[in-house]
Amino acid sequence: MWDPSHSFCKTSMSSLTNKRILLGVTGGIAAYKSAELIRRLQDRGADVRVVMTRAATEFITPLTLQALSGHPVHQDLLNAETESVMGHIELARWADLILIAPASANFIARLAQGHGDDLLTTLCLASESPIAVAPAMNQAMWANEATQENVAALASKHVRIFGPDEGLQACGEVGAGRLLDVDGIVLLTEKVFPSHLLDGKKVVITAGPTREAIDPVRYISNNSSGKQGYALAEAAIEAGAQVVLISGPTGLPAPDRSRRVDVVSADEMFDAVMKEVGDADIFIGVAAVADYKPVHREEQKIKKGDAPSNQVLRIDLIENPDIISGVGHLAGRPYTVGFAAETQNVVEYARKKLTKKNLDMVVANDVSDTSIGFNSDDNRITVLWADREVELPKLSKRNVATRIIELIAQGLREAGRS
Ligand code: CTP
Repeated sequence: MWDPSHSFCKTSMSSLTNKRILLGVTGGIAAYKSAELIRRLQDRGADVRVVMTRAATEFITPLTLQALSGHPVHQDLLNAETESVMGHIELARWADLILIAPASANFIARLAQGHGDDLLTTLCLASESPIAVAPAMNQAMWANEATQENVAALASKHVRIFGPDEGLQACGEVGAGRLLDVDGIVLLTEKVFPSHLLDGKKVVITAGPTREAIDPVRYISNNSSGKQGYALAEAAIEAGAQVVLISGPTGLPAPDRSRRVDVVSADEMFDAVMKEVGDADIFIGVAAVADYKPVHREEQKIKKGDAPSNQVLRIDLIENPDIISGVGHLAGRPYTVGFAAETQNVVEYARKKLTKKNLDMVVANDVSDTSIGFNSDDNRITVLWADREVELPKLSKRNVATRIIELIAQGLREAGRS
C-alpha cells in the first residue's frame, strides 16, 4: 500500500535500487559537479563508491566526496590503507557500472589505449561491468580529431558516452564539451539498467496539439510542443512497453522502437485512439486536444471581403469529442492516465477531471508558470489518484517522464493489473 512517509525518490521502484556504481572522477573544473551527482545517484537508490585521479583532487577534495558517498575515496593503485578496505580487483568486481564523470580528454585517451597505469584505468581494465564516460573539456579539445577517434574507439568497445552538452564553458568559449547536466547523467545511468517495469505491456499515448481546420489554409491550434508526450513514449519504451504514439503535428522525430500514428484533428485522433486502445494495457492522454472545432470547414480559402458589412467574421465552434473520457468510460478500459494543464486551482481542477473522465491517474501541472510546461524543457507536476496525491520537484521533461512511468507501473500493480 502507499506509504506517504516514503520520499518519492526512494520508492523501491527506482531502477538504481541496490545498484553499485563506481564513480570515477578525473581532473577538470566540472569535477565539483560529482558531489551533486553522488547525491542524485543515491536518491535513486544506488550505492556509490568513488575513485579519483590525482588531477581530480586539485579541483575537489577527496574528503568532500568521502563524506557524501559515506565510503573512503580510492586514489592510488598501491595504497595499503584503501587496499585493505577493498582491494582494487575486489572493487572492480563490486561495481555494476563504472561511471566516469567528468571524463577528461586525457583520461578518454588513456582508456581508449587500454592503459593501466593508475587506479581508475586499472579498474576499467579489470572490470567486466559496463563502463560509461561523461566527457567534459574545452570545445576545441572535444572537436580535436584525436579525441573524436578515441571516443569512437571507446564506443566501438561498447563504452557508453554520456554527452557532452553544448553551451558556455568555464573557459569562456561556447561549444560542445560541457559536462552533461546531472539530471541527464542520472537518467542515462538508469537506462544502463533496463527497468522491465512495463515489459510486454501495450501503451497508447496521445501527444502534441491538434489542428482544427477553418478553411484549406487556416486552423485553430495551441502551443503544445509534444515534448512531454514524446518523452513519456521514450520512458515507456525503456521500461519494456510496446508503444503506439498517436501524435498531432509536432515536428519531433518518432522515438526509436515506437509505432507512430500521425493525425491532425481531434476527430482523427479520436478514431486512431479507438482503433488502438481495445487491447492496450495503458492509455496516457498527453495531447493538448483542441476543445472546439469550426462547425463548418470552408471548402475555399476565406477572402477578406467575405466578412459581412460590419467587418466582423464569425466562426461558429462546436465541441470536439473528449478522447480520454471516451477511453475512461469504455468497458474493460486500459489503466487510463490523463494530464491536466491548469492556470489556477491546479489540484482541485485536476481532481475534477479524474472523476468526470473516469481516470485512474491524473498528472497536473501549472501552465501559468512560464519556467515549466508547454514549450519549456522542465516541468513540475503533481500526480493524483482517487485516494492520494504526490508532488514532484521541478525536473527535466525526460526525468518527469521516467517518474510518471514508475508511478503508472506502481498504480497498475496496486490495481492488480500488472
Ligand atoms: N483531452 C482529451 N480530449 C479532449 C480534451 C482533453 O482526450 N477533447 C484529454 C487531454 O489529453 C488531457 C485531459 O483530457 O489528458 C485534460 O485536458 P485539459 O485540456 O486539461 O482539460 P479539458 O477537459 O479540455 O478541460 P478544460 O480545457 O476546461 O480545462
